[in-house]
Amino acid sequence: MVKKNQLYEGKAKKIYATDDSDVYWVEYKDDATAFNGQKRGSIIGKGEVNNQLSALLFEYLENNNIPTHFLELVNEREMLVKSVKIIPIEVVVRNIVAGGMASRLGLEEGTVLKTPVIEYYYKSDEFGDPMINDDHIRELNLATPEQLQEIKNLALKIDQLLQKIFDEKGFILVDFKLEFGVHKGQVILADEISPDTARIWDKQSKEKMDKDRFRQDLGGVEAAYQEVLRRFKGGRAVS
Ligand code: TMP
Ligand code: ASP
Repeated sequence: MVKKNQLYEGKAKKIYATDDSDVYWVEYKDDATAFNGQKRGSIIGKGEVNNQLSALLFEYLENNNIPTHFLELVNEREMLVKSVKIIPIEVVVRNIVAGGMASRLGLEEGTVLKTPVIEYYYKSDEFGDPMINDDHIRELNLATPEQLQEIKNLALKIDQLLQKIFDEKGFILVDFKLEFGVHKGQVILADEISPDTARIWDKQSKEKMDKDRFRQDLGGVEAAYQEVLRRFKGGRAVS
């Protein structure tokens, strides 16, 4: 596989073409942003953690009948994925109240939700990723009703599977954001699953092990990212 021209640079990843039109080459960066790019910084080693953790989780999901864009790891910081067309919707799944749900609705952080809450956001830097609903998605032509139904079904299945594996590693999966793409007519999971895109708390101490440490200036950001990957790579959960 040959890495060719850069197609896109996002806040956390660069996407390259390859000599195979069905395959993209993804490079994960250490750059970190928050609050729609207003806060900027770098988390040393983040690219390697997010790439490897995403690969492990995509493989786990594939083994449980969830279609993903993941093909193979190239090295610690890069992976090959299917060349999907991204559906510009950020799909957030919440199991426990935190972040935007706490601040918007006045609910206490840590409140366990009776059933998972799904939210959609329009992936648009220009408009600051506004929250949208099914009707907005239809009017903006972001996805067909059938695709949206499939996205919802997959998101709920993924939530069950991810909650299980994070629990086994000694973590609580509070919430996370997914992106889906279309590949050969099929809706499949794309983007990444990492401490950048999920809230991960230690099961015992309830300590935040994710990008909230960067967003909220809590310190120990790099160590938290490394610890998440360490537990997933076979290190025993400290409990
Ligand atoms: P929120 O509580 O700030 O809406 O975040 C919900 C989840 O989505 C949380 O796990 C972090 C993740 N997320 C992203 O991946 N990208 C974003 O731009 C935002 C705002 C949140
Ligand atoms: N990734 C988003 C940004 O830079 C926000 C976040 O993760 O908090 O803007």
